Amino acid sequence: MTEKLNWGIIGTGAIAKTFASALAKSRTGELIAVASRTQEKADEFSESFQIPPAKRYRNYSALLTDKDVQAVYIATPHPLHAQWTIKAIEAGKHVLVEKPMAVNQYDAQAMVEAARAHNRLMMEAFMYRCHPQTRALVDLLKQKTIGNVRVIQATFSFRGGFNPDSRLYKNALAGGGILDIGCYPVSIVRLLAGAAMGADFADPLDLKAVGHLESTGVDGYSLAILKFPGEILAQIAGGIAVNQENVVRIFGTEGRIFLPNPWVADRANPTIGKIIIHRNGQPEPQEIDCPADVTAFTLEADAFGDAVLAGKTQASAPAMTWADSLGNIATLDAWRSQIGVVYDFEKPQGYPSVTVADRPLTVASNHRMRYGSLPNVKKKISRLVMGVDNQRTLPHAMVMFDAFFEQGGNTFDTAFVYGGGTMEPLLGHWMKNRNVRDNVVVIAKGAHTPHCNPLAITQQLTQSLDRLQTDYADIYIMHRDNPEIPVGEFVDVLNREAKAGRIKAFGGSNWSLARVEEANNYAKKHGLHGFSLVSNNFSLARMVEAVWDGCIAASDSESRAWFAHTQFPLFAWSSQARGFFTDRAHQDKSLNDAEMNRCWYSDDNWQRRQRVLELAEKKKVLPINIALAYVLFQPFPTFALIGPRVLEELRTSLPALDIELTPPEVAWLNLSE
Ligand SMILES: NC(=O)c1ccc[n+]([C@@H]2O[C@H](COP(=O)([O-])OP(=O)(O)OC[C@H]3O[C@@H](n4cnc5c(N)ncnc54)[C@H](OP(=O)(O)O)[C@@H]3O)[C@@H](O)[C@H]2O)c1
Repeated sequence: MTEKLNWGIIGTGAIAKTFASALAKSRTGELIAVASRTQEKADEFSESFQIPPAKRYRNYSALLTDKDVQAVYIATPHPLHAQWTIKAIEAGKHVLVEKPMAVNQYDAQAMVEAARAHNRLMMEAFMYRCHPQTRALVDLLKQKTIGNVRVIQATFSFRGGFNPDSRLYKNALAGGGILDIGCYPVSIVRLLAGAAMGADFADPLDLKAVGHLESTGVDGYSLAILKFPGEILAQIAGGIAVNQENVVRIFGTEGRIFLPNPWVADRANPTIGKIIIHRNGQPEPQEIDCPADVTAFTLEADAFGDAVLAGKTQASAPAMTWADSLGNIATLDAWRSQIGVVYDFEKPQGYPSVTVADRPLTVASNHRMRYGSLPNVKKKISRLVMGVDNQRTLPHAMVMFDAFFEQGGNTFDTAFVYGGGTMEPLLGHWMKNRNVRDNVVVIAKGAHTPHCNPLAITQQLTQSLDRLQTDYADIYIMHRDNPEIPVGEFVDVLNREAKAGRIKAFGGSNWSLARVEEANNYAKKHGLHGFSLVSNNFSLARMVEAVWDGCIAASDSESRAWFAHTQFPLFAWSSQARGFFTDRAHQDKSLNDAEMNRCWYSDDNWQRRQRVLELAEKKKVLPINIALAYVLFQPFPTFALIGPRVLEELRTSLPALDIELTPPEVAWLNLSE
């Protein structure tokens, strides 16, 4: 290589200095700039590393405008990783970000989305992954040197004196052992469990943990046990309040491996790695030396530099890939959750009022959302509707809702019963925190069986509005019908609520079309408002059996004809048939989950799926995009409820908005009925 990769460093603390020294020995990189929060610290740092005055920046943003900087190393405390990674990527830089990549998996997903969108290399800095010792260990397990791996033990823990204002103990800086140091044991047991199964990494099926919390609410030390596929179990320990034996042990059916220095963290000198193998029945262990000419930090800089120069967006495993990092942080989330470490900035009162990228929430100017309308609802209604039924935590909800809103999505479908009542507050917090209530269409649902009666509508709506921190729902939908109650009683109470201003428009979900007609005949006769929408299941795949008790679909030709004739708006739930058009569905029933087999598996559906695959190939989109476009291109108003659990699912759903399906294509997809 003739030219070197030009690096800039953000943050001038302990690890920044280590990395700057490491770059001095790098084959591929050169340090040319630094940014600190103060000029004084930038200057002081630069003196040690010969950075010229013009490249010593007194704020982080300034470094990102430096055209000479190609790669940025982010060496700040954890809560700043996500925002500065995203800003650097958006400024066109490649990013090596210190571990843990982010404070939770949702912020990390936003970072991956940014790197993907801007085609930049982004890597989480686990330097031990770049040392030859780690690669040699992976190879040994792949070769089954100790037979089948059964148990892995990994520890990284040190005693840092308690100081509530230090990075390690401070709640606002996401202190604690799990994120700071527990990320290493997590990453190595995932790496080794994966290697034992011939993969780059594995994610645990289960995790249990105990821990000791400090007075600042961060974990001082903690232990976790993990269960992996392939009959592999792991024990891990991490801590900032106790010195432990920082080693890795792997036990297999034919022997064991001991790693006395797994983290190869010497900052000044190259580490000669050592792997000690004890084979069953052999008295003497075998010792393998794994020398390196430079420190693991230099090896890391070069693994990164080699990948950039090869035009990649991810370094090769065992250095961290995006999927590996996302699995790691998800495991750290699970570990933290088990011992109750929730940082103050992850709680409703402390949540930042800006997005992961540190910006006020706005709609992207290049969004592709389409909109429709409903009588009595003055706001435009996005034709994709975000389901508020699976966001488990506030950070999860905030990141997903922000991303949907940025893409022009403004309509959210909640329900009194979702998450046992825990979902509505998340949407409420988000709307309040982002100050977007006036821009959002809230669909509230209530009166689910067994409380499907007029009184429950009022009582539950009061509670829902309280949880949603609002005084009205733009759209109210009865979650179920109760045919034992005369329809007029429902229409009366819904009109009372509309008159009181607590709902603007209303409709029924899982209502038979005959009952909807009955309701609207009653309304007409009594000079009242009738239902203005129906929310039943609707998708290209026909629901063979109801997903949940009492569910009704409107996908059949008779229902479609009714909608086409009445032009009644349909809010289609499970519009993407709960994964039937993704790789999750297999014609071999034994590979499907129970719901897939029970609800979506039929010869007709497989034929439709086949046509979806053909058209997707032709239009160069994902099959799921065709399935969603089918819902949007009906001869009557439709809104498609989608339930992305992660940002990737949201991203891969959106291209449906760009597809134009002709009526013959729609008919052909539907087997030309
Ligand atoms: N890979 C490894 O072996 C390794 C080892 C240690 C740490 N790390 C990781 O590296 C990151 C930094 O750790 P460190 O030990 O270098 O920390 P540190 O010594 O405290 O330095 C962090 C730097 O971040 C900047 N910063 C920005 N906002 C800050 C704030 N509110 N409070 C304190 N500092 C702030 C400061 O630089 P300016 O004042 O110049 O802006 C500070 O010097 C952490 O994420 C940690 O997990 C990795």
